[in-house]
Amino acid sequence: MIKVDISNVWGMMSLPELLAMEKEVSAAHMTLTNGDGAGNDFLGWLDLPTEEETAEMRRIQIAADRIRKDSDVFVVVGIGGSYLGPRAAIELMQGPNHNIGKGKGNPQIFFAGNGLSTRHWNELQRLLEGKDFSIAIISKSGTTTEPAIATRALRWMLERKYGTDGARKRIYAITDPVKGALRQMATEEGWETFVIPPDVGGRYSVLTPVGLLPLAVAGIDIRNVMKGAAEAKKSYDLRSFENPVWLYAAVRNALYRKGKAIELFESFEPGFKMFGGWWQQLFGETEGKDGKGLFPVSAELTADLHSLGQMIQQGERNIFETMVRFDAPEQKMVISADAKNLDGLNYLADKTLDFVDEKAFLGTLAAHVDGGVPVITMDMGELNDSKLGEMFYFLELSCGISAYLLGVNPFNQPGVEMYKRNMFRLLGKPGYEN
Ligand code: PA5
Repeated sequence: MIKVDISNVWGMMSLPELLAMEKEVSAAHMTLTNGDGAGNDFLGWLDLPTEEETAEMRRIQIAADRIRKDSDVFVVVGIGGSYLGPRAAIELMQGPNHNIGKGKGNPQIFFAGNGLSTRHWNELQRLLEGKDFSIAIISKSGTTTEPAIATRALRWMLERKYGTDGARKRIYAITDPVKGALRQMATEEGWETFVIPPDVGGRYSVLTPVGLLPLAVAGIDIRNVMKGAAEAKKSYDLRSFENPVWLYAAVRNALYRKGKAIELFESFEPGFKMFGGWWQQLFGETEGKDGKGLFPVSAELTADLHSLGQMIQQGERNIFETMVRFDAPEQKMVISADAKNLDGLNYLADKTLDFVDEKAFLGTLAAHVDGGVPVITMDMGELNDSKLGEMFYFLELSCGISAYLLGVNPFNQPGVEMYKRNMFRLLGKPGYEN
């Protein structure tokens, strides 16, 4: 189980205060699993994890094996919930520089359609020059402007390179089973498709083909990811404060009620940056409504201690932190001795980098707690494929419970839809004139 340690929040809240929330948390958990709360038509994600390989998972693996064999590059087109999960997972498991040295057999993976930058597009075109590539288009609605523009351009590139028939075999669409422009296009063009279940919203979709196809192309064992999530589904169903999901959801709400309106979600792993981005969307889009919600910010330590550190230590006292830790990897980096010792580092000779990292974590924790910043620590244990599935499910469950504690509908995003509609109107899309 993931361990949530709240011993560094006691300066801000008491044990009786936490225990007084037990009924509330229990009710929020029940609302979620009984499906009788707001947004209850979007609870499909609760039951996605599976111990057994499903027929769809097998089809995903077959498609992934084909892409690995015939492509130097795999381009994943999507935005928001149709993008952040797979990128988060791949960078966490393989590092932010995972593409270096990759090619056919183990293709590079790039992301497109997650913005409107011409520079980004030009760079992608350069990266694709002379390369065999395939694309996955991910969009639940099938109408989002950013991925739609990237799709049209990439599809044209594929058709020019491989002809219409050749291109068709290199385009995979992940979308609603029935509705939307992407579904219609895929059917007409004969692209292979995978389904985003209608009752699973974008930010809760990483354990559908949205996440699973890119993960499988990256060589991540999707069966183990799903097994980890299935295990999490069982173990985090516990209805007491023994459940770390309850602790996390309750404490962040208690701190919010005491004026801690910003949550900093941090890890000491550079590969965690995009996972922080996924978490930010999950909690931000779930909770930020009706004039309420914790503002979720992710940060990378120790790098951001040299930028945000001052603000955390001595700025406005409206922040709390959630620090994520992983077990150290087996392969060690040992600091060597140096005869001249001009840098004065010999006192660390023969120590590992993990030793220094651990002290940095403890030192930062103590400094921030002394500075009046409550810190929740989340010990994930060993990082592997099944842990990844466990982490996704753990955080999704915490988020659903937390939003019901806050009193908002966890599963809509009226604000996002407002921006999409405005953009359609400003661009002159037929039907959006008013
Ligand atoms: O979580 C959400 O619902 C959003 O972030 C969507 O995933 C995002 O806007 C992309 O939408 P779509 O998948 O319909 O293109």
